[in-house]
Amino acid sequence: MRVKTCSEETTEGLGLLVGRTLDRRLTILLQGELGAGKSVFARGIARGLDVPATIPVTSPTFTLMNQYTGRFNLYHFDLYRIAAGDELEDIGFDEFAFGAGVALVEWPERLDALDFDHLLVQIERVSASCRSLSFSARGESQTLFLSQLEKKLRLEENPDIRWFE
Ligand SMILES: Nc1ncnc2c1ncn2[C@@H]1O[C@H](COP(=O)(O)OP(=O)(O)O)[C@@H](O)[C@H]1O
Ligand SMILES: [Mg+2]
Repeated sequence: MRVKTCSEETTEGLGLLVGRTLDRRLTILLQGELGAGKSVFARGIARGLDVPATIPVTSPTFTLMNQYTGRFNLYHFDLYRIAAGDELEDIGFDEFAFGAGVALVEWPERLDALDFDHLLVQIERVSASCRSLSFSARGESQTLFLSQLEKKLRLEENPDIRWFE
């Protein structure tokens, strides 16, 4: 599934739909260059999981992980600055990324391998205000989730979201 958004609000809105659709724990990987919109999309997911609007959702660039409470516990990682060695272990990555809550991971490229079940969202800057978002899934439950999401998105007929067929 691949779509295009041409505003920050539309990308956040797409994240919101993902968050609202989440009825199971998932590890969601967010790939894309700096400024692609990973954190904007992550904020939408948080809101869709009912993390209150009074709680700011920002990039955990320096803290490596931010934790939120909504319909699920939400763990938002940004591995951009992860150092080699034991730092992943120090922040309890495995425990949170594969635990009972929803995990969002910016810069999953920093991990040794992506050989675990996940939903992958690749965000690319198409122009100053447009982004392409490609969704793919690894694992049965993740694949099912993605087809539910696509169905919902098509039903919504949001004119701001363009489809690549
Ligand atoms: N269509 C769009 N979707 C998301 N962000 C956009 C879009 N157009 C412009 N932007 C801008 O791109 C930046 C994305 O920032 P951010 O989400 O922090 O990126 P990342 O986390 O990938 O480094 C924001 O400044 C946002 O306003
Ligand atoms: Mg970010």
